[in-house]
Amino acid sequence: MKFLASLALLASAVAASPLASRQDSSSSTFHLKTSGASNDDHNNLYVYAYHTGAGFNDAVLTSDVGTASPAFLNGTNTQFDLGTPFPWGLKPSVQNNYGAWESVQINTGYGSGGFSVNGTDFEWSAASGFGGWLVCDWYHNAPQLFYIYRYTQPTIPSSCSQVDLTAEYVS
Ligand SMILES: *[C@@H]1O[C@H](CO)[C@@H](O)[C@H](O)[C@H]1NC(C)=O
Ligand SMILES: *[C@@H]1O[C@H](CO)[C@@H](O)[C@H](O)[C@H]1NC(C)=O
Repeated sequence: MKFLASLALLASAVAASPLASRQDSSSSTFHLKTSGASNDDHNNLYVYAYHTGAGFNDAVLTSDVGTASPAFLNGTNTQFDLGTPFPWGLKPSVQNNYGAWESVQINTGYGSGGFSVNGTDFEWSAASGFGGWLVCDWYHNAPQLFYIYRYTQPTIPSSCSQVDLTAEYVS
């Protein structure tokens, strides 16, 4: 019960935060752009939906802003407008494999809650296990987005960089 009570407290604290209820950005469209990487090849890259199967995409990165997938916040969910009548949502994979980082997908549906834009800083919630963004040169022959699971001590491979994601508003 103690655990449930603190969860309820946490939920109301999140609901009361000005970020979660910030309405002005919810109708704005943005691109997600990397910055702050020590490897400059992992900076100024944009997230786009890389098709991996019906209804599934990996969050892959490109330097071509024309390829970037336009995103918007719907409450604390991040959706992408991929030009279909149905929605696409940003969905970090659940950490259930003892991994120090996990992939991020853009799948049909509304995706996961817990996203916020603070200034232009785009983050997922620490309560969801988020410990920062990671970019790795990966198996689509391109840099790919991951998130660090905050309860681990990741050993970052040389092909990966910790990055910030910023919301670059296009409307
Ligand atoms: C926002 O999410 C709700 C479900 O939580 C959904 O009903 C609504 O259609 C979504 N808005 C857009 C623009 O997709
Ligand atoms: C927003 O960002 C500022 C500056 O980095 C930081 O001081 C503040 O704690 C952040 N707010 C939240 C709710 O994370």
